[in-house]
Amino acid sequence: MSPLAYHFPYLPIPKFRRRDRARKRLQALVGDIVRKRRAQRDKPTDMFQSLIDMAYQDGSKLSDNEITGMLIGAIFAGHHTSSGTAAWVLLELLKHPQLMRETRQELDDLLGARGEVNFASLREVPKLENVLKEVLRLHPPLIILMRQVSEDLQFKDYTIRKGDMVWACPPLTHRLSRLFANPEVFDPARFEPDRREDKNLMAYQPFGGGRHKCSGNAFAMFQIKAIFAVLLRRYEFELVDAPECYVDNYSDMIVQPRSPCRVRYRRREAASFASEYGRQGKDAAQSDGCPVHTAKAPPRLSIKLDEQLCQGHAVCTGEAPLHFSMGEDGVLQINQTQIGPDQLAQIENAVRYCPNQALRIERGDP
Ligand code: HEM
Repeated sequence: MSPLAYHFPYLPIPKFRRRDRARKRLQALVGDIVRKRRAQRDKPTDMFQSLIDMAYQDGSKLSDNEITGMLIGAIFAGHHTSSGTAAWVLLELLKHPQLMRETRQELDDLLGARGEVNFASLREVPKLENVLKEVLRLHPPLIILMRQVSEDLQFKDYTIRKGDMVWACPPLTHRLSRLFANPEVFDPARFEPDRREDKNLMAYQPFGGGRHKCSGNAFAMFQIKAIFAVLLRRYEFELVDAPECYVDNYSDMIVQPRSPCRVRYRRREAASFASEYGRQGKDAAQSDGCPVHTAKAPPRLSIKLDEQLCQGHAVCTGEAPLHFSMGEDGVLQINQTQIGPDQLAQIENAVRYCPNQALRIERGDP
């Protein structure tokens, strides 16, 4: 995680030697599993197996070294980013007691003391979601996003040449006042429907953007909602140090709160819950006040997919299985582009929950 590893990955220093020894051991472990799986008849259908099965265009398979590298990449992509973000959600809630009360109340109303945390119950938790989005705006864990320029381009007085690297810096972009009102203020309400300050996809970039936007973004949002649906209903927290002591550590490549970062916790009293199971299970989409939902459906509507943005999360296939399915090649297929009036609510959910906003509803025929 250190910038040193990025700039001089092979320096002969003790921690890099430990890293290289650990990688050799890991590769040996991975190699054993690969060989066991190759011999196995019923293969599991997980990511590990996909890496074992996939082949280059010339038919050659990935080596143990490459599979190990891909696994390390995937685990690192998901782990430090998520743990740092989860830590910041708790810290920001503790720094803003009114937001903590409102967020906890939202979870209590939804799930009560004993309601089950599952995919359906956590689909819409707007207050917690907005807190999470605001945490990602002010504390994006990845602060350098790189792209190689594919053709010469002119920006003001600069010519940026094909082959050059350009970097985006989310914590900086997120603090531009022409993109976000009062950017230094922690204000989750900026994402409410009347403001939607995240609607400019290239301005709000905690997960990057375009074709290579974080492919774990839907999972990341969901897992953090799940973590807080459990933590805030089980425990009470408080900051140990003064609020201003909790700051980002910008000296690492993946930015997290600076250690020591201490909070105190105790088990929550059951008596503090108004209801045992909350209103979980109720489909929030039925009463969301969305104008397209509540208005009479226009005569002809169709689905448009931006193939450049779709990463195959397949959320839409769950929301509207009649219209969407995944092909065997992992590419999304639209089975039917036209939308009947009784299918509108499902398609709207597919559009709304698409992690990459790759779907649109358009008036007119497909
Ligand atoms: C709060 C949590 C997370 C944040 C803030 C985050 C952020 C990012 C960012 C900024 C990128 C670079 C995108 C770009 O260059 O445009 C990225 C890439 C990626 N992330 Fe995440 N990530 C998170 C969680 C996860 C999780 C949980 C997974 C896996 C389950 C994951 C898997 C990946 C992968 C595979 C890529 C590379 C995508 C590509 O190059 O096509 N991330 N992430």
